[in-house]
Order: sequence, then C-alpha cells, then structure tokens
Amino acid sequence: MDKFLIKGPCKVKGQVNISGSKNASLPILAATLLFDKTVEIKNLPRVRDIDTMLELISSLGFLVRRNYKNGSVKITRLKKIKTIASYSLVKTMRAGILLLGPLVAKYKKAKTSLPGGCLIGARPINYHLNVLKKLGMQYSIKKGYINAYIKTSLVGTTIKFPKISVGATENAILASCFAKGKTILKNCAIEPEIKKDLTNFLLKAGVPIKWIGKRTIQIYGVKKLKSISYSVMGDRIECGTFCVAAAMTEGNLRIKGFNPKLIKTELNLLKKTGAKIKIYKNEIHIIGSKKIKNIKFLQTKEYDGFPTDLQAQFMTLLCKAEGRSVISENIFENRFMHVAELKRLGAKILIKKNKAIIEGKTKFEGAELMSSDLRASVALVLAAIVANGISIINRIYHLDRGYENIEKKLSKLGVNIKRIS
Ligand code: EPZ
Repeated sequence: MDKFLIKGPCKVKGQVNISGSKNASLPILAATLLFDKTVEIKNLPRVRDIDTMLELISSLGFLVRRNYKNGSVKITRLKKIKTIASYSLVKTMRAGILLLGPLVAKYKKAKTSLPGGCLIGARPINYHLNVLKKLGMQYSIKKGYINAYIKTSLVGTTIKFPKISVGATENAILASCFAKGKTILKNCAIEPEIKKDLTNFLLKAGVPIKWIGKRTIQIYGVKKLKSISYSVMGDRIECGTFCVAAAMTEGNLRIKGFNPKLIKTELNLLKKTGAKIKIYKNEIHIIGSKKIKNIKFLQTKEYDGFPTDLQAQFMTLLCKAEGRSVISENIFENRFMHVAELKRLGAKILIKKNKAIIEGKTKFEGAELMSSDLRASVALVLAAIVANGISIINRIYHLDRGYENIEKKLSKLGVNIKRIS
C-alpha cells in the first residue's frame, strides 16, 4: 500500500488549480443512467471514487468512453441494461446508492447493494428509501441487497425530508425526473453541488426543475432527456483544504478554478484566525499569518454552515492557534478519527462526546501516521507539512479517493513530499 513521506516544516507558496468536484460529479454521473443518448461530462477529477462510479455504470451495460487527458467521459446507453449494482463496487464507495433512484425511475427495477458503513459513522440510508417509497417505489431487503421495483411508474407528490441529507436529496431529485407529474421536495440539502451543479445539469437536459424556496425544489417528470455536454464545478472541499494549508504555514497561495462566493463561511473563519484573503471571480489569494488566532467555538452544520468535510483540516490549523478552541461535530457520530493521529504528532486534544477541545500552540514533531478516512487523511498531510522532521503517512488510498494528484500539487507549492509505493 502506498504511503507519503513528508519532511517539514514547509511553507505553501505559489498557485494551485482546483480539480473538478468529486461530490458534484457523483450524482451527475448517476444521472447519466436517465439518458437514452450519449451524454458527456467534463472536468471530472481523476480520483478513485470517480473510477468506481464509472465502473458501476459500465457494469450496468452503458458504454463508458473516458478521456483521461481532459478529464471528460462520454456515456452511452447500450441495448441491454442490467439493473444490479454489485456489492463488490458499492462497498468501496457509498455513493453507489445514488444509482437506486435513477434505475427505478427509468428501468422500473433495481437491485443495489446496501452501502457499507464507514469509519465516520453508520451512515444509514433510511431517508433514501423512505423518499423513494413515497414516490411509489416498492422494495425488500435480502442478503445485503435492496430489491426495488415499481409496477408502472413513480408518481410525483409533495415530500418533506425529516432531516437534511445530501445523498437522499440527490436520490430523490434523480427519481423525480421520471416520476409522473409534479414533485415538491422540502427540507432539501442545498450544498452547491446540488443547488447549482446537479440542478443546472438536469435543467440543461430538459427537466423542468426549479428551487421555489431556500430548501424546496419543484420538479415536473419528463419522458426523456436531451443529449448534452456538461462541465462540473470545482471541488469545494479541495479548495477549502488548500486555504487551510496556506493559513497554517504562513503561506502565500493563489487558488484558481473555484467560485469563492461558495465558501464564504470558511473564508470568514480563516480571516478570524488571522489569514489575509482577497477574492476574485474564480480565484482566492490567501496569505497565512505568523500568529494564528483560536476560534472559541466552531460547529459543523449543513450548508451554508461550516462543513463537516473541513472539520479535520480546521482542527489541524487550530492546534497551531494561540489559545484554546472547541469544535463540535454535529453531522457524523464518529468523525474524530484524526485526533489520535494528531496526538502522535504532539497535539493536545480532549474529546468529550461530539466535542473536541483543542489546546493551541502545538509544535508538531514528525511521526509515523495512519490514514483512516478521506478528510482525516488530508488533515494528517497538513500537520506533517508544518511538523519538524519526517512524517510517514500510511494507507493513503483513502486520499486517492478524493484528492487528484495531491502530492504533485503540493510539491509544486514547495512541500517536500514523496509517494512511496
Ligand atoms: C455527503 O454524504 C458527502 N458525500 C459527504 O462527503 C459529506 O460529509 C456529507 O454529504 C455531509 O455533507 C458525497 O457527497 C459523496 P448525508 P451523505 O446524507 O450523502 C445521516 C467526503 O468526504 N443519514 O447528508 O452520506 C448520516 O448518517 C464525504 O467527500 C441518515 O441517518 O451525507 C449523517 O449523520 C464524506 N439516514 C447525516 O444524516 C440517511 O438515509 C448527513 O448525511 C442518510 C443520512
């Protein structure tokens, strides 16, 4: 298994281009199952989760032609479509559950593996199943598979999510595109990957879809979609990660390829810790400060609150702050896997239920570390960059799931990082 060898401390300086968004690409790729003709998706990030999703789509009987050079893919429905999403693929990538809605809506049946849980939590799919049931889907669960079907077609209706869920919102939107009549979904997740990218993609394909409230969407079902080409947005969490890298290394970074207006909350928090930030149309210029101020209380929330996917990265930054900070993780029940590893580098962090109390002024000393999940792993990379001496980060396949060429991007910014296979 690959590992990273990082020699710190380094400053992060120069310019970095943000790759396409993993979490915008996954639902848009799931939506390609709804098309009869070829559909082209551009600016896909070259990361393992995208490989897995494309493998899943091809296993269903779609022709997948990938152009690695420009990160685009053309997907064409072939004659015989299978409607089984296998455990071997879904177990490595939970977003495989997003195939359920489109398959049932378009092909009237689906057999999809229950997604495995993961380290950050049990991650049930009850909201997915309930909303699809309300649209008319019938299902049974046997031997770890969801066997779903409908007699004639899904029927549009008004549904309010009991809790905000990114994946369940995406599954419901995809299914509603082929439900009869009007569907209104209330209490939706409104991450930009949904409210902008997935919505714009479906609009362009001819779905009458419209946000009629902050968290309320209205969709009229259609019979078929237009063949289109669409380029996905930049990756919001990769962008936030590089902002933290600059903030914690007294760096000076120009980050291109992402609309800064979509991460106002995070940028305001970084300014509170002392970073100097200038924003342009599609670029952020961030200069880290020598003294990093603490944040007394920071809690993760659904968008447009502070995102859980940046919690680990901000914790690493706050270890370097002048005083004590508290982070409350309100989205997942077990998303502090990075804490034990940060403590191996010298961090002083106390966990009390879903709160982490972070003493500042940490001088990280290089050590051998273990990645656990995608965002925890990148937090270890950030800590290793500022640590004195050599750090080894094991099991970086977690990182390869969601960060494209991260060691190449960091090396170009002055970080002493090597991948050891
Ligand atoms: C998406 O996961 C993202 N994944 C996650 O990013 C992100 O952390 C999460 O949204 C929250 O923003 C993708 O977009 C592929 P949820 P998802 O449904 O859809 C509970 C990354 O690093 N819940 O909004 O699974 C759930 O357990 C990944 O890129 C139910 O109880 O998140 C969690 O506690 C990690 N029942 C909360 O809701 C359900 O049916 C929010 O989950 C669904 C969710």
